[in-house]
Amino acid sequence: MRTLIAGIRQLVTPRGRGPVGGEKMNSLFVQDGVDILVEDGRIVRIAVGIPTRGIDNTIDAAGMIAMPGFVDPHTHAVFAGTREDEFLARVRGVRYDGGGILETMRAVRAASEETLAANARAHVRRMLAWGTTTVEIKSGYGLDVENEVKLLLALRRVRRNVPTRIVATFLGAHAFPPAMRRDDYISMIITEMIPTVRRRRLAQFCDVFCDEGFYTIAETRAILRAARGAGLRIKIHADELAPSGGAELAAELSATSADHLLCTSERGMRLMQAAGVVPVLLPGTAFTLHTEYAPARRMIALGLPVAIGTDFNPGTCLIYAMPIVIGLAVMRMGMTVEEAITAATLNAAAALELADEIGSIEEGKAADIILLDVDNYRQIPYFFGHNPVRAVICGGKTVYRAR
Ligand code: NIG
Ligand code: FE
Repeated sequence: MRTLIAGIRQLVTPRGRGPVGGEKMNSLFVQDGVDILVEDGRIVRIAVGIPTRGIDNTIDAAGMIAMPGFVDPHTHAVFAGTREDEFLARVRGVRYDGGGILETMRAVRAASEETLAANARAHVRRMLAWGTTTVEIKSGYGLDVENEVKLLLALRRVRRNVPTRIVATFLGAHAFPPAMRRDDYISMIITEMIPTVRRRRLAQFCDVFCDEGFYTIAETRAILRAARGAGLRIKIHADELAPSGGAELAAELSATSADHLLCTSERGMRLMQAAGVVPVLLPGTAFTLHTEYAPARRMIALGLPVAIGTDFNPGTCLIYAMPIVIGLAVMRMGMTVEEAITAATLNAAAALELADEIGSIEEGKAADIILLDVDNYRQIPYFFGHNPVRAVICGGKTVYRAR
């Protein structure tokens, strides 16, 4: 199957097969008037005036900006129930302490796998319409073997029903279930949950909420070592509520990413840089929690390959649109538009170990491409809250078109 994406007004993409850090985050490749030839879902040629001979299908991109599909590297998009009371209490000044996770746990335990899948599918569809072609989704609202497995099986169902690439992360260590001793739950994670997740191939990553009031450094280390031993890749919810040493631990364990990082220390940032950990920043959460934003400028100055994501979840961030996250990154974290685009595509792909497959428009990569109706890419943060996405192409097929 040969598809031609024809007449693109301007192609805008970072380039590379791994994360790009520091100043290099500013250098996007920009070319006017190109066509993209796709064969069996893969980009095989990018050039001006590709002949239409032997083409099975043409996608008209006249007047559009083409960019790599957004990669959202951090969400909790499989859940049931809502928490608007907690949200409104916070607006009145109540501090977030993660207690609401157990409220969502109760709703999830009461919901069927089908309901959870239907909920998640609806979220993923809405994300697709805003240009997200790959999304990472964490479990973590089940907090026992049966319900964590149910969440991950729901994700497996969603994957069969959407064009979006879904990366599943096991986050059994998201909170402590009531009526169970802390140590007993941690040994259940290590001796039952992780082996089950691995044996049934339910997730690619294991994550831990390492923070004040949640998992300690020692507990996080024990869980993630077991996960690594079982062949899972690792991530850490680090320094979201307090400077808890999560970034330092991510470096020690060579985690793929450390996420949130609202309160990370200078030392933590330097260690992550030395260890090749991708920092995943989630400005929608700082916005929703009324907190300081992560020190993106300092990280980029240190050469770190900053990635950004939504953190979409029922408690701390209901934003699911990557163009809005790009707007917050620019307006609230001081990132340049170019850095924010690199962070939302190539570096986000690296945070999922997928940078050799997606995250940029380059020959050899999967043809996950979005077509935007803006005069130039610098208008993406400027038109904050407007959806610039007109069409979404996954693996060379048009899977969404705006009416
Ligand atoms: O990323 N920090 C932990 N987990 C989520 C929030 C979970 C919730 O409150 O439901 C987060 O902010
Ligand atoms: Fe999170």
